[in-house]
Amino acid sequence: MPDRIRIVVTGKGGVGKTTLTALIAHHFAKRGRRVLAVDGDPQQNLAATLGISPDRPIVPLADRKEYIEEKIGSGPGRGGLMILNPDTADVVDRFGVPAGENIRLLVMGGVKNAGSGCLCPEYTLLSAVLRNAAALPDEVVLLDTPAGLEHFGRAVAQGFSLALIVSDRSYNAISVAGELRRLARECGIRETVLVVNRVEQGTDYQALREKHGAGFSSVRFIPADPCIARHEPSVLPVIEEGCPVTEAVRALVRGILAGM
Ligand SMILES: Nc1ncnc2c1ncn2[C@@H]1O[C@H](COP(=O)(O)OP(=O)(O)O)[C@@H](O)[C@H]1O
Ligand SMILES: [Mg+2]
Repeated sequence: MPDRIRIVVTGKGGVGKTTLTALIAHHFAKRGRRVLAVDGDPQQNLAATLGISPDRPIVPLADRKEYIEEKIGSGPGRGGLMILNPDTADVVDRFGVPAGENIRLLVMGGVKNAGSGCLCPEYTLLSAVLRNAAALPDEVVLLDTPAGLEHFGRAVAQGFSLALIVSDRSYNAISVAGELRRLARECGIRETVLVVNRVEQGTDYQALREKHGAGFSSVRFIPADPCIARHEPSVLPVIEEGCPVTEAVRALVRGILAGM
């Protein structure tokens, strides 16, 4: 069993990345693992999905000007040199937000022009945190990402070893999943798992696996579960009630712990 688990959750918009990230985080935590959930989506909806009250303000890392200056320097145009590979191992102890027993949340926030890999201090800091994810103290790190491909940079590839590529059954989502798999492999992420979400009852899993699974390390299925919408935004009641989705998530977590 791997002692450090570093998972990036990716896929087309709306396929269930944030929901699954939160569910998986809670399941690891229930098993006694110390979990860090990282919200890499500028929309910042992982906190509420994990069950943190929306009234609780969270300052994202991209807005921590003092920390950024301490680690990176003030940057070009502001009269300073930039440190491109700072030691960010303290970032979670300083800015992690408790999100239940054994879970902390780190919110990255938005960076202008992140996709173009701009050399601004905020982007430099966030990418250093991702690149150095292996050095973070938490046993499990789960990174939720925004839709699209551009955020899937080198930094993520260096810090993470497993990509959960989420899709629903639509043609578009499956195509994006295929592209993301190729990208992940090219970048050197060893394991790519296709997670087909919102699968209807009675679906032929074997047929789906044969149709879409080529090239992925493995394929997992998560059922469509109306329970999730009933309890939005938090997944906590979904777990407490033992809604249908929980068994599939539990099996996924078991698989990850067993090395898939
Ligand atoms: N297995 C599921 N069954 C039913 N609804 C789901 C399931 N997974 C996600 N959803 C719903 O789909 C919508 C999009 O999910 P979200 O996690 O926000 O997607 P993403 O982060 O990929 O944009 C949400 O309304 C969520 O409640
Ligand atoms: Mg999301």
